[in-house]
Amino acid sequence: MTVIENPETAEQRRQKEQAQAHLLPHFTKGAAWQHESLGIIERAQGCYVYDTQGREYLDGLAGLFCTNLGHGRVDLVEAATEQMSRLAFYPTWGWGNPPAIEAASMIAAEAPGDLEEVFFVNSGSEAVESAVKFARSYHLSRGEDARYKVISREWSYHGTTLGGLSITGVPKFREPFKPMLWDGTRHVRNTYGDTAEELASSKAIEDMILAEGPETVSAIICEPVQNGRGGLVPPDGYWPELRRIADKYGVLLIADEVICAFGRFGHFFASERFGVVPDIITFAKGVTSAYQPLGGMVVRTPLVHSVWESPTGAYMHGATFGGHPVATAVAVANISAMRSEGIMEHVLDNEGGFRRRMDELLATHSCVSEVRGLGYFYALELVADSETDTPLSDAQRAGLQGGVLSRLVRDAGLLIRPDDRGATMLLTSPPLIADHTVLDDIQDRLHTILSETALWLATNA
Ligand SMILES: Cc1ncc(COP(=O)(O)O)c(C=O)c1O
Repeated sequence: MTVIENPETAEQRRQKEQAQAHLLPHFTKGAAWQHESLGIIERAQGCYVYDTQGREYLDGLAGLFCTNLGHGRVDLVEAATEQMSRLAFYPTWGWGNPPAIEAASMIAAEAPGDLEEVFFVNSGSEAVESAVKFARSYHLSRGEDARYKVISREWSYHGTTLGGLSITGVPKFREPFKPMLWDGTRHVRNTYGDTAEELASSKAIEDMILAEGPETVSAIICEPVQNGRGGLVPPDGYWPELRRIADKYGVLLIADEVICAFGRFGHFFASERFGVVPDIITFAKGVTSAYQPLGGMVVRTPLVHSVWESPTGAYMHGATFGGHPVATAVAVANISAMRSEGIMEHVLDNEGGFRRRMDELLATHSCVSEVRGLGYFYALELVADSETDTPLSDAQRAGLQGGVLSRLVRDAGLLIRPDDRGATMLLTSPPLIADHTVLDDIQDRLHTILSETALWLATNA
C-alpha cells in the first residue's frame, strides 16, 4: 500500500512556505492551508499521484472527476506539443482552426440526435453560462422576449461564476453572494428519494413552470446523475418526462454533463444512457481528460439556425480562448484514445464489479447507510449506525465534516471527496482506466477509512 515518505528537505519546506504565502487555494479553509500538513502533488502516473515527499495516493476522484484517461499519457502530451509548435493560438472569432474544427466534429458525432453545433469555452462554469445565455438568445430569436427563468434543482452544482452560481443549488456557496446573484433561477426538489412510480421530482418541475407562467420560463437544467447530495441516479422515466414537459411548454432542456460526459457512465454523453435528446449539453473536465482546460456546449442545429436567422444574426457571446487550438488538439487525441481503447465498454463491463465492491462496504460497515451511483461514480452516505437507524449527531457531523474525514482519507492514501452537501458522504469517481486491481485498492482503502470512521464515532458518541 502506501509508501512512507522521505523526510522533508529544506527546499520542500521553502516551497510549502511559498505556497502558504502566495498561492490562494480554491474552496480551502485558511487554517488547513496554513497547516504543517499541507501537501504538494508533483507527479502522477496512471491512477496514482505522488507528493513531493514521495508519498503515493490513489486518485480516487480522477482529480475532480476529470482525469478520465489517467495520468502520464504520452499521446496527449504529444498532441499538445505538436499543436503548440504549429499554431499555439488564434481566436475562433471569425476564423476556424483545424483542431477546433476536428474536435467539434468528433463531439457532434458522439452527441445524441441533432445536437451538432459545438461552442467551446474554458471551463464548466462558462459552459453553463453559455448554455443559459444561448437559451435566452433562442427565445429572443423567436420573439418570446418574456422567457428568461431557469429551473434547476436543490443541491445541484453548476459552477461558481456569478451566472453559474445563480443556478447552483448549494446554499452555503450561494448565501454569501446572494445580493450579487441573478434572481431568475427557481430551485425545485431533486430526485433524492423519488421513485419511478411517483416521479414527484419531475412533477415539481412541471408545477414550477405552471406557477411561474410557462411564457416566462427559458430552460430546465439538470445533471443526468446529480453530484450534489451524492450520486443521485434518477428514477426510470425521469428524463423522458423532462423532455415531455420541456416540449409541452416550449422550454429548452439543458443536460449539464460537465461530470457525466466522456465516459463517467459508460457513454460519451450520459443523456444517451437515460434515453433523452436534450436541446443543449454542457461539457468540460473529461473532454481533455484534464490535460488542458476546455469546456463547451453542444446544441441542436435548428436552434442555432433560429438565432442566426434572427435580426441579431449572431450568438452574442464569446471568450478569447474559446476553441483554443492546443486544448482542442488534446480533445481530439483524448476522444480518439477513448474510442480506440474501448473506454466506454471498459466502464460498462466494470461498473457491476465497482458497485458490488461498494455494496460490500455497505454490508460490512454500519456507519454506511446507503450507496448511490452508477458507472464510475459512487457516493457512500454516512450515519452513526445504520442497523439502529441512528443518524449522526450534530457534533459527529461537525467533527467528520470539519476535518476528521479529510484526515482519514489522506492517511489511507485515497484521494476521494468527503462531501457535506445535504448529508455526510464520501464520493469516489476514479479515472476510467481503473481496472480490477485499482478497484480492489479503492475498496481496501475505503475499508480502512470506514473502520477508522466507526472507531471515531464510537469514541465520539
Ligand atoms: C455539473 C457541473 N457543472 C459545472 C461545473 C463547473 O465547472 P468548472 O469547475 O470547470 O467551472 C461543475 C464542476 O464540478 C459541475 O460538476
